[in-house]
Amino acid sequence: MSEIIIIDSGQLSLSLRLPDLGMPEILSFGTEPVEPDPLFEIERSSRVNGMDVAAPSSVLLPTGGMGFFGWPAIAGHRGGRDFVAQFGNWTFSRDGHDTVLVGHDPVAKLELSITLTAHPSGLISMATKLTNRGESDYQLDRCMAATFLAPAGDLQVMSFTGIWGREFQTRRELLGNGTWIQENRRGRTSHDRFPMLFIESETQIFGVTLGFSGNHQMVIDRTDDGQRLVHLGELFEPGEVILAPGESYRSPIAYAGADTEDFHAFVREELMTWPGGAMSPRPVTLNTWEGNYFDHRMDSLKAQATAAAELGIERFVLDDGWFGKRDDDTTSLGDWDIDARKYPEGLKPLVDHVTGLGMQFGIWFEPEMVNPVSELYKAHPDWALTIEGRPILESRTQLVLDLTRSEVSDYLFGKIDAVLSNHDVSYIKWDMNRDLTHAAGRDGKAKTAAQTRAVYALMDRIRAAHPDVEIESCASGGGRIDYGALKRTHRVWTSDCTDALERLEIQRGASVFVPPEILGSHISASPNHQTGRRHTLAFRALVAIAYHLGVELNPLELSDEERDELKVYIETYKRLRDLFHAPGASFRMEPLDGRYVWGAASAEKIVVIVAQGPQMVGEQPAPLRLPDQVTQFGGQWRIKTVLSAEPQFIRISEGQKALLSGAVTFALSSAGLAGLPLPMLTPESALLLELEPIKGGKTHG
Ligand code: GLA
Repeated sequence: MSEIIIIDSGQLSLSLRLPDLGMPEILSFGTEPVEPDPLFEIERSSRVNGMDVAAPSSVLLPTGGMGFFGWPAIAGHRGGRDFVAQFGNWTFSRDGHDTVLVGHDPVAKLELSITLTAHPSGLISMATKLTNRGESDYQLDRCMAATFLAPAGDLQVMSFTGIWGREFQTRRELLGNGTWIQENRRGRTSHDRFPMLFIESETQIFGVTLGFSGNHQMVIDRTDDGQRLVHLGELFEPGEVILAPGESYRSPIAYAGADTEDFHAFVREELMTWPGGAMSPRPVTLNTWEGNYFDHRMDSLKAQATAAAELGIERFVLDDGWFGKRDDDTTSLGDWDIDARKYPEGLKPLVDHVTGLGMQFGIWFEPEMVNPVSELYKAHPDWALTIEGRPILESRTQLVLDLTRSEVSDYLFGKIDAVLSNHDVSYIKWDMNRDLTHAAGRDGKAKTAAQTRAVYALMDRIRAAHPDVEIESCASGGGRIDYGALKRTHRVWTSDCTDALERLEIQRGASVFVPPEILGSHISASPNHQTGRRHTLAFRALVAIAYHLGVELNPLELSDEERDELKVYIETYKRLRDLFHAPGASFRMEPLDGRYVWGAASAEKIVVIVAQGPQMVGEQPAPLRLPDQVTQFGGQWRIKTVLSAEPQFIRISEGQKALLSGAVTFALSSAGLAGLPLPMLTPESALLLELEPIKGGKTHG
């Protein structure tokens, strides 16, 4: 038996065998490591696929040809030759959590290195590096980052789709006979094809995600014995990756995890890097966008900041409209100089005012973009990614700058650096409001892959120069939410849609892979600017409160009652955020008859948010059976408080009143088994329950 390699994270385990020739065979992938066993030998010698000696089909990153008839994960050629690759002569090395496998193809003259990492948080990740060891250029058509294995039998895939303002809609489909494929060609993570999947079979559930903000491919291919290979990697434009002799292609990193908790732990403990080394309590934010749009008036902005501070808001983010001559969205992107018409004395008076109130100051940039109506475009029309001779396709009247050119990146760095260096700015909202289309450099060659890396490089450079600054990743709302972006940013703008009803689904979907404290969630005005729906302040606030809370309205337009009410929600958020955002504390349930439930639990406190979306169909709601993650604490509990103080119910019994008023003590285990018999909420309303343990109460394990 040849060498068996086990990558074991404690939660997931991958067993591989390195053959003399061909790709590493996947012996098993699942929660348990599999040790060498004679059964593998019998299986191996019994394979049939039409060839006299059948090539294995469950392998990492299969290359095409040579008896493998499935979807090749690596493909390319050398001017039409060497269209078949076959790696062998594998070596492997281990360094801490990393295992590196290196294989060679002496015929096509290629070297492949696969890095497999068993993460302390429980994930397993994989990434590839392919090097041209020949004397001529090698055109790489595809080089996936990873392959994971799903068992034979019925398989359901959960993916995320959506549009602008309606991100992270979950879809479940049963896989059929053919190859399942999702390709993103928008040049940014996108609103409609997030690089994240959950694969569910009768015996196994796992999630996968590609840490990348550009074009991607996720492919699920059926093997001869009915198992499935799950491939994740970058999607190239034709001719986009041509490796000169000695040159290498490095893939993004793909991750697999057993459940949402492990993904959250990974993001918190391993992926994100915080100014000061650790995340500070997530500050309540005021974002100026929906309250002001492009109409920036210094006096009003200062007054809004003062009102915000009085509400308990801790960070003031000046959105779009402060630079160039940006009175609407048709001009000035690229002209990152402060608009002297709106800010005759510069931004300093506003920044000083905000910081003087004890709040942090943040500012909006959309660095990658240029409007044709701008000074920058006048001076450098060739800086935009376009193809000569082809029509220029505008989106939101803007074009994308070629950040792979150092003069362009240097220009942008200089502009951003000037604002950050001259003001007390501690936060950037980094926006990106259009897809890439026919994105070519001056040489006419596709640039999407290089552009994605150049954006990362610019972010990294800003972070290195200003290590105390946090960055929010925004792309027309949630168009750039992925583990590549999260590696360098600290918050995502989950969606431009702040309608609380829409947010129920958006936030539920987004939180499968992203922890709640990273998801920006704002209380905005009613009627809502995107949908026109009217919602109570209670509903808007409670739907936002467990995430990274913000306010996006003009606080000067609030009535006194609204201001008092908003203050209560902000105070409640501050009191509960340590729990909402604590490692391992948050939970979320599948919605039932329009009722969404999520929250956070510890041995000292349980917070349950219950929100009714559409009107229920059932005559009465099913008792709320709290999940194990909540009931594990055992003991006797009661409901301590209910927010809002006067929630809206369709009907409520005397017993339910007693339960909500805290008069009833119950075993937490019963809240899991029998469930909490909550009253039926009116549609588009919510309540927040704070549960407390009864000291000295009887404990159930
Ligand atoms: C995008 C963002 C919004 C806002 C506007 C400004 O749409 O998603 O939050 O910043 O741009 O133009």
